[in-house]
This record gives sequence, structure tokens and C-alpha cells, in this order.
Amino acid sequence: MAFEVFDNGVHRIIRFDDLAGEGDVQANQYLLIRGGRAIVLEPGGNRMFSSLIAAISSYVPPQKIDYIIVSHQDPDVAAGLNGYLLVTDAKFVMPAIWERFIPTFCSKGIAQSRIVPVPDKGMRFSWQGVDFIILPAHFLHSSGNIHVYDPVSHSLFSSDLGAAIFPPEVEEYPVVQDFDEHVKYMEAFHKRYMPSKAACRAWARMVWEMDIERIIPQHGAIFEGREMVKRFIDWVATMDCGVELMVKAGVFAVPE
Ligand SMILES: [Fe+2]
Ligand SMILES: [Fe+2]
Repeated sequence: MAFEVFDNGVHRIIRFDDLAGEGDVQANQYLLIRGGRAIVLEPGGNRMFSSLIAAISSYVPPQKIDYIIVSHQDPDVAAGLNGYLLVTDAKFVMPAIWERFIPTFCSKGIAQSRIVPVPDKGMRFSWQGVDFIILPAHFLHSSGNIHVYDPVSHSLFSSDLGAAIFPPEVEEYPVVQDFDEHVKYMEAFHKRYMPSKAACRAWARMVWEMDIERIIPQHGAIFEGREMVKRFIDWVATMDCGVELMVKAGVFAVPE
């Protein structure tokens, strides 16, 4: 289903959230439209490429996509890139440390001129008169991960941070209503897929002072409104996860 996340008449964010095939992990893809041009964030896997292009086409012709932003190297984020390489002239924004790895998803190489590598310290980039901020989000969860801040809608696209995985018996919802209830759908994922508590705390410190109206993850539901954003950042700052839990559990031992 397409879900309108933001629309002020000139600047729109559309979310697609049900294009993953049977057995594939649920994933959200985002389309930003402004001045008749578009950006796609987190384009997703190979198997959803044709349905996503069809869905995008009902808003804007794919030839109008200027940038495709991939937050990290995971297949549910970037495995479909090959299709975009062929049907658009878009540039691919990706963490610099993955720029030699991500093109492996493509049958023909991505020309270097089409890659916009994001340095470890993040960067700003201008599109349609708007200065977007690409934030470093290292180890959340990929060793080189980026988040994108849209200063018009005050939205932070947070990649896998904030991901929720709903069990089959729960009806998925696009926006978090009850944070305490929602935590149980995020917990297992973050404990295992977020490698470092230190990274979580560094991220929380970085975004704490930012003007954020919503946090938009790649899986699950959106944290909408200042109060919900604050609850989420607090949760990230205090959560135990990753290597510390593994060490505590004694997993690092030669198997019998
Ligand atoms: Fe991931
Ligand atoms: Fe993911």
C-alpha cells in the first residue's frame, strides 16, 4: 500500500510498504517528490523492482528520479539496483566504504560518474533547492551506514534503526501509536542486528539537538511527532545490544 507520509503541496514523501514478496522480509521504500523530480530511498531487493517501478510510475516517470539513496549494503536495501541502473539516469548515493561492494548487485558495472560516495563524516547535498543532511550512522547496523535528514519535512530516514518486525498474527501498522507496545516488535531485531551500544549512544547524542518531527525506518512503522521521536531516541540511547550481549551470553567459545 502507498502511504502519504508528508505533503505540503510542493514537497511529498510517499511510502511503499507491501511490495516484498512471499517469504521476503517486509521492507519500506520511500519516494520523495519535489518540482516534478524524485529521490528514491532504500529501493529494496531484486524481486520487488518491477512492482516498485510500477508504483513509482503512478506518481512520477522513473526518468525523473535524480537520486537513489542506499543506506548500506544489505540485499533488502540495494539488491534491486541493477534495474534502476538500466531504466533511470539517477545517481546512486551510498556510504563510501561500500562503493566497491554494492555494484556487485549489478550485472554491468555502475559507472563511477553515477556514484555519489558519502564520506565517513557524512555530508550535505542540495536537491531542488533543499539542503539535505546525510548523517553518519556507523554500526547502526552496517559498519558504514547513513541516515538522511530532510529539512523541509523534518524527517529522519533511519535505515534499519527503528526497524520493527511484526509477527504474522499482528496486523502491520504504518505509524506507531503506542511506543511501549511497539517496543516488543523492535527489541529482538535491535538486540541482534545492532552491534554496538556505544554506536547507539553516539547516534543519540548526535541527533538529540536536531529538529526532528518523525523518524522513518526501513522496516515497520514510523515514529511520528516530537514526543514519539524523543521516546525513540531515549530508547536507543539506553538499549543493550550486539557484541556486549553476545559476550555476556558467552557465545564467543569454540563449539563442542
Ligand atoms: Fe540492514
Ligand atoms: Fe533492512
